Amino acid sequence: MLGIEAMSEDGTPRLSIVIPTYNERENLPILLEKIRRVMEGKGLSYEVIVVDDDSPDGTWRVALEYAEKGYPVRVIRRMGERGLGSAIVRGLREARGEYVVVMDADLQHPPEKIPELVEKAMETGADLVVATRYAAGGGVTEWSLFRRLVSKGATLLAHILVPWARRTSDPMSGFFLVHRRLAKSRVNPKSWKVLLELLEEAEHVEEVSYVFQPRHAGKSKLGFKAMVDCVLHLLRLSGWRPFKFAFVGATGTLVNLGIVKLLYSMYGLPYPLTLLAAFEASLTWNYLLHDAWTFRGLRPPGAKSKVLYWLHYHVASAGSFAAYFTLANALHLVLGLGPLISALAGIVAGFAFNYLYSSMKIWTGEHKRTAQH
Ligand code: GDD
Ligand code: MN
Repeated sequence: MLGIEAMSEDGTPRLSIVIPTYNERENLPILLEKIRRVMEGKGLSYEVIVVDDDSPDGTWRVALEYAEKGYPVRVIRRMGERGLGSAIVRGLREARGEYVVVMDADLQHPPEKIPELVEKAMETGADLVVATRYAAGGGVTEWSLFRRLVSKGATLLAHILVPWARRTSDPMSGFFLVHRRLAKSRVNPKSWKVLLELLEEAEHVEEVSYVFQPRHAGKSKLGFKAMVDCVLHLLRLSGWRPFKFAFVGATGTLVNLGIVKLLYSMYGLPYPLTLLAAFEASLTWNYLLHDAWTFRGLRPPGAKSKVLYWLHYHVASAGSFAAYFTLANALHLVLGLGPLISALAGIVAGFAFNYLYSSMKIWTGEHKRTAQH
């Protein structure tokens, strides 16, 4: 009747659909209805797992009513616990399907895409399929420029800070499918962004594009605090690398000055030659510390020799110098800003270039934490 006859032999469904909810009473019935239509159309056996944090609007009660009506819905009503990340992890644990889809309750994630996620996983053997807004065919509707910028900014930040986030164009997505194997692997329930953890653990990642729809009823539960949490979480996942990078840079400057003192003031070498030597020494110092500390374990394995990486790091430094030189000159000579503030802006630009190049081109690393150990 509901398409659940197509269960596998031991009675477990092919697919579990995890829906975290908080005050989604008006949205849930529409979503459940749509899911049913889509799944029946495809003859896919499924179960829906609603993980509700005892919503004041009684979303859990609405879900229970649907279960009583015979919809394949299981309701987990969490008392005294709140949080999107932990709700998703709970859903993953409870899921019995071979595949597990996670999606919002507010119809922003079109259920029509679910079969495509499953097909992609089956065709490719992927254990993680991300529904993405940022690949050909994907997009967002009715978003203000501000929301677009915030979303793009968060995506870019994730790509810069977290190497394994680069495995998908939309690491911030809340709509994705995992294979049972991955759903049952260790995922840290404390973290806010579950997809980021899954991206790290996954063997094979694929994506399917979709258009993010406007929220049907109610409003987003993720506000400014969630945004701040997200940035902090990304920094934590990055191992606080930008700060380490800046710290190493500062020690490199001391090395530079020390060499100037030694070669020029004490040994009387010509100044230009001294500068070159000091520059090279601090570059090498920085390289060694970045390799051993900042980006520890992120040199792609088996690849070129350390010397080649050291040479490659010259590109990062040269580009960094070019950014510093160009911006500082432009600000001071063209725009007439003060000499110090211009130099400072140049330093920031140089730092940014150096960090971006280093993390995205040199220490590009391994995606799996397990493989680093
Ligand atoms: N159980 C539970 N507990 N569910 C929650 C909680 C919570 O504390 N907070 C939010 N939810 C549910 C919502 O009811 C909704 O079904 C889903 O989680 C996502 O929350 P929204 O409030 O709709 O988030 P959003 O639309 O702002 O953000 C979505 O898009 C982002 C990308 O732009 C989410 O999918 C994010 O994960 C995603 O990063
Ligand atoms: Mn939403």
